[in-house]
Amino acid sequence: MSDIKISDSIKYIGTDDHDIDLFESQYVVPNGMAYNSYLILDDKVAIMDSVDARKKDEWLKNLKNELGERKPDYIIVQHLEPDHSGSLEAALKEYPDMKIVTSQKSAGMLSQFTEEDYSSRVEAVGEGDKLSLGNHELTFVMAPMVHWPEVMVSYESSEKVLFAADAFGKFGTLDTDEDWACEARRYYFNIVGKYGAQAQALLKKAAGLDIQKICSLHGPILPDKEPLSYYIDKYQIWSTYSSEDDGVFVAYTSIHGNTGKAAKKLGEILSAKGAKKVVVTDLAREDIAESVEDAFRYDKIVFASATYDGGLFPVMEDFLYRLGHKGFQNKKAAIVDNGSWAPVAGKKIREKLEAMKNITICENTVSLKSTLKPDNIPQLEALADELLG
Ligand code: FEO
Repeated sequence: MSDIKISDSIKYIGTDDHDIDLFESQYVVPNGMAYNSYLILDDKVAIMDSVDARKKDEWLKNLKNELGERKPDYIIVQHLEPDHSGSLEAALKEYPDMKIVTSQKSAGMLSQFTEEDYSSRVEAVGEGDKLSLGNHELTFVMAPMVHWPEVMVSYESSEKVLFAADAFGKFGTLDTDEDWACEARRYYFNIVGKYGAQAQALLKKAAGLDIQKICSLHGPILPDKEPLSYYIDKYQIWSTYSSEDDGVFVAYTSIHGNTGKAAKKLGEILSAKGAKKVVVTDLAREDIAESVEDAFRYDKIVFASATYDGGLFPVMEDFLYRLGHKGFQNKKAAIVDNGSWAPVAGKKIREKLEAMKNITICENTVSLKSTLKPDNIPQLEALADELLG
């Protein structure tokens, strides 16, 4: 178990998973994943969520170490997704007198995630309901769609701790020393990104609470290396679909390297013209979740794609699908396409962007015929001028 200190009464009992290949069977996690769980020791004892079944035995051991001779009175289930409920049934069997405190929505879904029926042990709670443990008192705040409908968060008033479910989480184990924002941003946009309005609703409720610590179900206890406001400000930007940085993300797909050559040339032109930051990415070779993150991060974006089978190159099609699905909006965009005999990629990109909210598409476009030619350079210059203008 990571050596993490919260307070004399609130203990960390979560687990690091260094062996998982893909989180949610889709996201590469080069530094693994943490499944956080906490224990509040007072007159009554409450466990805050379980962990993924992959780490059940380690979690139960951590729990027993902190419990000593005591038994838990409650397990607070804030989120039923299996990365947090996967070891719940094992704990319910181990402690038959332990009650389950969870949202009303979650109470109705619980049996979907257990083999046996535990409904007689459920104490369903709603918005603002409180649970006293002695000196510690939990207030439950509903947070639907951050990131499932049954999610709630819990505020402990004596130590001013917000147990935040998935909110403020990140990829990576707790024993990894890495930048919080990088992996929290990738986590947010790919996992919670579609639900900006719901994340905003939670932030508004949280603004009314005096919070000194945030205990997410993933990632470090906050504040970590920055003041607490740093993390809340990031969530404010992300959940309002505001751009975090002034810069251009040039996202390209290229079958034989020619569209890539044009994308890189455009990147050079943009830098020479004073773009604050330019990131040029081959979508086929970069982690697509990282590219989704970068698309949301910068205020300008270029889509450069080859035509393929009379349509979009599949990797670009997938990228645009993901952006649309995650509510991509509020950007200035430019289009470069390529086609050796019938270029249609640009038209297809435009159609997809026009279906999104508040995407301003540059009038200048560049359409390559197989390879980048000297004639294309002034076209790229004009496109760069308009994009930066
Ligand atoms: Fe960490 Fe939505 O589960």
